[in-house]
Amino acid sequence: MNTDIAIRLAEADDAHGIAVMSRDHIESGLSWKYDAPRIARAIRHRDMVVLAATEPEGRRDALRGFAAMEFGEERAHLTLLAVQPAHRRRGIGRCLVDWLLESAVTAGIASIHLELRSGNQAARRFYRALGFSETVLVPGYYAGRESALRMIRMLRSPGPLPLAWRPPALGQK
Ligand SMILES: CC(C)(COP(=O)(O)OP(=O)(O)OC[C@H]1O[C@@H](n2cnc3c(N)ncnc32)[C@H](O)[C@@H]1OP(=O)(O)O)[C@@H](O)C(=O)NCCC(=O)NCCS
Repeated sequence: MNTDIAIRLAEADDAHGIAVMSRDHIESGLSWKYDAPRIARAIRHRDMVVLAATEPEGRRDALRGFAAMEFGEERAHLTLLAVQPAHRRRGIGRCLVDWLLESAVTAGIASIHLELRSGNQAARRFYRALGFSETVLVPGYYAGRESALRMIRMLRSPGPLPLAWRPPALGQK
């Protein structure tokens, strides 16, 4: 990947650019759900991580891609992910997902879930390349018109998190 790309937590100022990318590259042909106010709420939400991939362009940083994931107790949901068309196949999508996977492992998450439009072959190949498996087709998931494909990536066996380290009992050497 080009080393000028930086991955960072999204800030309030990124909300508009992210929302436009979602409208144009994820929700195209559907009604626009992830508009700027909704993205701004996601950026502030304590159970969500929204990432921005940026690159210096002139005197400002240009948004090249973004990802949003919601963290539950054991499951995380990769809600949104997109890279600008002119910057695809540079490893930016992989870098965003790797960042989220590392955070999920640290948070003790057992599995990552996502839905994508069933006709989206590029995303399907992308997620397969990153170790996700297809689970089920959900007819009419998108506005009753389009099917969704669900995919999953297991990070550990479900159930309580095994404690890797325990403090020594008091009085023991
Ligand atoms: C899916 C998407 C995020 C991938 O982003 P990207 O930055 O181009 O992906 P990467 O460069 O990190 O690709 C990693 C690997 O995924 C696979 N891959 C990515 N795009 C692919 C494509 N169009 N066809 C086949 N394989 C693909 C390849 O194995 C690739 O590795 P390689 O380039 O070394 O062969 C991007 O195509 C996109 O924004 N699509 C529109 C929005 C979307 O579909 N989002 C996902 C559903 S919400």
